[in-house]
Amino acid sequence: MLIAVAGAGYVGLSSALAFAVSGHDVRVFDRDHARVDRLRRGEDPLAEPFVEELLGTFSDMTFTTDPRAAFRGVDAVAVAVGTPTTSRGEADISQLLIVADTVAREAPQCHVLIRSTVPVGTGDRLRREALRRFRVVANPEFLREGHAIEDALYPDRIVGGGDAEDEPLVRALYEQILEQRFPPRGALVPRTAHPRLLWMDRRSAELAKYAANAFLVTKLSFVNEIANVAAAVHADIRAVTEVLASDPRIGSAYLRPGIGWGGSCFPKDTRALVAFAAESGYEFTILRAAIEQNNKQLLRTYEELATELEGRVGVRIALLGLAFKAGTADCRDSRAIALAELFLTRGWEVHAFDPGVVSSPFVPPAVQVKRTAIEAADGADAVVIATEWPSFAALNLEELRRVMRGNLVYDGRCILEPDAVAAAGLRYRGVCPPIPND
Ligand code: UDX
Repeated sequence: MLIAVAGAGYVGLSSALAFAVSGHDVRVFDRDHARVDRLRRGEDPLAEPFVEELLGTFSDMTFTTDPRAAFRGVDAVAVAVGTPTTSRGEADISQLLIVADTVAREAPQCHVLIRSTVPVGTGDRLRREALRRFRVVANPEFLREGHAIEDALYPDRIVGGGDAEDEPLVRALYEQILEQRFPPRGALVPRTAHPRLLWMDRRSAELAKYAANAFLVTKLSFVNEIANVAAAVHADIRAVTEVLASDPRIGSAYLRPGIGWGGSCFPKDTRALVAFAAESGYEFTILRAAIEQNNKQLLRTYEELATELEGRVGVRIALLGLAFKAGTADCRDSRAIALAELFLTRGWEVHAFDPGVVSSPFVPPAVQVKRTAIEAADGADAVVIATEWPSFAALNLEELRRVMRGNLVYDGRCILEPDAVAAAGLRYRGVCPPIPND
């Protein structure tokens, strides 16, 4: 099939490459000239595993800013443009509406798959308005940054929402992924587990995407809350989460306590779900609480550090981590950066290091970005681990102690061993505190 993918972000680019691996001809459309130029040169703009290799393999893939060249003669269009949040917390679907108009103008009658996360009813609206001539299918993705290609080739499930007559096209488009029959590409080989195509109506498919993210953030806020209770009652949260994780009904994923959840999806999608539920007359109590807990969780860290460093002048913080999670360079809605902003507001100096981030428009200019963790810790009163990079778990604690001015280490991601920190002459604080000695 000849597929056009609109939007070359995480979702669009990984979908496009997965379609190419599955044997389809693919054209990628993006309005961003700089990004398209980089992709034409075979460069990965997202720093995602496997992307550069696949761009090299499919070097004849079309990347274009020209809508006519992108959409002419295609069998299907997959739309994966951003749906950022408005100041009122709603999803801003303006980019999607512009692309829909462009597709309506340039593409032949075909299927249009909506990969973007969109409020329930958006597909119906497109079907009634801009895309009247087209077959509109809700086809949300569930990829995690840092695993975009793997999640596209080995999804847990593929969700399709539309009329029954739309299903065969979607099944054919994803056939090689559903049956794990695509030709191996280096380490990307078909697996024995086959994902299922879950077919439903458009609205249910749209809601399912929000429901999945909402469930995960609720789990995270819950575990953070239990960690706070554990600290208050002198119980060991690591032992408690081990018990939770061993129950298959609960599952072991998304149980690591931290300074809160962030990223390009969770915050915006949860706000959007609360907003469109409210618009339909329903108050989403649990999700509102999960969001509120996430805000509190960050303040808790900040306040604990403020108490610990009370009375010190010229405080310098070494902030380890800027990306919203390990394995990505993405700093959108990063809790690490929200923390940096609180520190700066208090007049503290922030020296930061992140193995994946050299510069980012999201890092406040006052934050000094260093080349190593030790460089960031040099002269610091406190080291704060804000992103769960594995290299931070392997820090040389003796060296850290030697270069720091103070001796406080705040583990905001539950990745250090409190005993090892204490053995190096450092004071451990964090979201997973050990049980104090009697
Ligand atoms: C998420 C969803 O996982 C994905 O299905 C959806 O399509 C997009 O949003 P992503 O934004 O890449 O993916 O991040 P994810 O790996 O889910 O992590 C989100 C946040 O939760 C990060 O801030 C991370 O640090 C935090 N987290 C995750 C924890 O604090 N503890 C955990 O145990 C897991």
